[in-house]
Formats: sequence, C-alpha cells, structure tokens
Amino acid sequence: MSAMVSLLFHLLCCLTVFWLLPLPSHSADPDPLQDFCVANLSASISVNGFPCKPASEVTSDDFFFDGFTQEGNTTNAFSSFLTPGNVLSFPGLNTLGISMNRVDFAPGGINPPHSHPRASEVGVVIEGKLLVGFVTTNNVYYSKVLTAGHMFAIPRGLVHFQLNIGDGKALAYTAFNSHLPGAAIVPLNLFASSIPNEVLTKTFQVDADLINTIKSKFRS
Ligand code: GLV
Ligand code: MN
Repeated sequence: MSAMVSLLFHLLCCLTVFWLLPLPSHSADPDPLQDFCVANLSASISVNGFPCKPASEVTSDDFFFDGFTQEGNTTNAFSSFLTPGNVLSFPGLNTLGISMNRVDFAPGGINPPHSHPRASEVGVVIEGKLLVGFVTTNNVYYSKVLTAGHMFAIPRGLVHFQLNIGDGKALAYTAFNSHLPGAAIVPLNLFASSIPNEVLTKTFQVDADLINTIKSKFRS
C-alpha cells in the first residue's frame, strides 16, 4: 500500500514539474523582454537581433515607416520589386517579431522562387491578378490565382513565388512573424553564388555550357 502511495506521489511530482516547465514557444522570433527595443543598427556589438537605442532617444518617428508610399521600380530581369519593411529598414520593429514587404509587379513580373528561413508569410493582393504557389518538402505544389482582396499563406521555410498573370500591374503586401525573415532566393543562391560549376552540372545533370548560360543571366 505504501509503495502505491509513494508511486502516486512520484507521479504527481513528475506531472507538476511538467506543468511548471516553460511552454515551448511557437513564435518564429523570441518574445520581447521589454515594451520596445528600437534597433541601434550601427552598434559595434553583435547579438541575436540588435541592441536597443537608449529609450531616452526614442521618438514617435521610430515607430513609423513611410517606405511603402512609393511604387517599386520594376525595370529589372524579374519585372518585380520588393520593398522590405523589416528591422533593417524600420528599426522600430526590432524584437517585435513582425515585418512586412510591399511587392510591385509589372505585367508578367515574377517574385522568383524563394524561401524565408525564419518566418511564415501571409499576403494580400491589393491590385492585379497573381498566381501564388508554394512547394512542400515532399514536392507537392499548391497554388491559386488571386485578385484584389484575396489573402494567401506560405508556411515557414517553403519555396514559393508570385507571378503576375494579369494584363496590368499588380501589387501585394506581405507580412511575416519575424522582424527579419530572411529570403533565400533559389536562382540567386544557385547561380549568383560561388557554388562550383561541378556541383551544378552534377546536380542538374547538364553540361557546363548550360550552367554558364544561366549564370550569365544573373551577372550584374
Ligand atoms: C513574397 O513572397 C515576399 O516575400 O514578400
Ligand atoms: Mn516570400
């Protein structure tokens, strides 16, 4: 009987410890530990995030950003332009775990396949007609054609794109659960980096000429 009581007591202790353990965090960025921490982007120390500007120097302007008022210049190879509203352009977002982009598309423009290692993405189409798609780690492709007012979601880390399939311009705003989601742009990662040609010819099972032709498209 006393063995049974002791067993129950141990079980209760174990359950209590489990309940008291901090719940696992499901946010992409760590939770902030203060009301705000406007980034000091030029601080000489390097931490996970950015050190805070002294609170006495923080003003209302630190919490506003007017970088989305201008249309992006889409005269480039992808006929699209992404204006980031992340901690680097808007230091007031530091530690808040959120950011946004404005994405402009000329007709036929593409935001090429890319992934965000540190955030999931949601977006809303403001103007035009976009084909939005992503691919899972099992190579399953999900896509939808969206027009003004439609919203989409891209799970964290998955490769995705937006293609303007309308007759005119298109505009979308995207949002992230990270102050700096990061973007690994597939064609640039592979063909504008210094990955050796041998890796690329073996990976794609093509000859070096073809790899060099693709690389030449991304040389500035
Ligand atoms: C769109 O995919 C974006 O990253 O803003
Ligand atoms: Mn994206």
